[in-house]
Amino acid sequence: MKISGAHYRTIWPTSGGTVRVIDQSRLPFEFATIDLDTFADAAHAIRNMIVRGAPLIGATAAYGMALAVRSNASDMYIDEAAQILQATRPTANNLAWALRRMRGALAGVALKERVDAAYREAAAICDTDVEQCRSIGVHGLGVIQALANTAGRTLNILTHCNAGWLATVDWGTALSPIYMAHDAGHRVHIWVDETRPRNQGASLTAFELGAHGVPHTVIADNLGGHLMQQGRVDMVIVGSDRTTAGGDVCNKVGTYLKALAALDNGVPFYAAFPLGTIDWSLEQGRDIPIEERSAVELTHVTGRTSAGAIETVRVVPEASPALNLAFDVTPSRLVTALITERGVCPASRSGLRKLYPDRGAA
Ligand code: MRU
Repeated sequence: MKISGAHYRTIWPTSGGTVRVIDQSRLPFEFATIDLDTFADAAHAIRNMIVRGAPLIGATAAYGMALAVRSNASDMYIDEAAQILQATRPTANNLAWALRRMRGALAGVALKERVDAAYREAAAICDTDVEQCRSIGVHGLGVIQALANTAGRTLNILTHCNAGWLATVDWGTALSPIYMAHDAGHRVHIWVDETRPRNQGASLTAFELGAHGVPHTVIADNLGGHLMQQGRVDMVIVGSDRTTAGGDVCNKVGTYLKALAALDNGVPFYAAFPLGTIDWSLEQGRDIPIEERSAVELTHVTGRTSAGAIETVRVVPEASPALNLAFDVTPSRLVTALITERGVCPASRSGLRKLYPDRGAA
């Protein structure tokens, strides 16, 4: 995607062997990059959400393994790095998936060849992500086109959190079809859920859509249901951090409520994600570990003052406890269809199996 006319991915290796990422904690106010020098830097970037979004978490963990191998290629060190990276964020399946791929690529490789092998595999994981997200866009575009042809007017699409190019290596998952529809000349307007507590919608999705020129409006998380009742939402499309083999979709907290409102109002609800998001070992969403993050993310908000300073202020009484569970599960029965790099399928075991008869291979 382009920022001020220059093409960017969200992560790339530098000639010096470090790994450069966009520092998402500074957006939308400042576009800055940061260099990761060690696997501990990569773990810190994931844990503290300098990078975030399931596919990008996986890509950063992959390069984190390459950084680990660069400093020590022994099996013991690789094991330790993989364990530390795995513990950074428990919900996104792409993290374990990328680490498994890295371990597979290094297994049986001579010590002196491991650095090259690790960087090669991390680069391949990133390139695959770009291609998969592009394909998700193509398949999702078909869905949007069909709706646009029926509607014959601007299509209003609601999205939650940030499942755009910032959440992946490029293109995004839920936003990829939206970019393609916009670029193909379809009139789309996006309702952007602010996505409390960390406001990824207000700060990241709005930033991305604005930079690409896609018409959008930021709304309070709780407005979606009302807009659906008013006939002002034609479609919901979200990403996923982990989708079970049975088609349950785990995504940013608040997604489930949007799916309930969508069903009640006859609004189609789609989830878009690549292969690495699918957890073939789980049938039911209730078995997915839900990340609990610091209550400070809920009790405080960060923003820019009119004088230009970035400040964090408390919005909850000092004495009140707060619970910050970061994800929820939308059961497959509420999901109209899944959009992956292989096509569009019903949210069910048989639907996914048809798209992935070779499931488990990656
Ligand atoms: O906590 P985050 O910002 O990592 O959560 C991101 C989301 O919930 C996205 O919707 C999800 O990772 C899909 S990303 C393409």
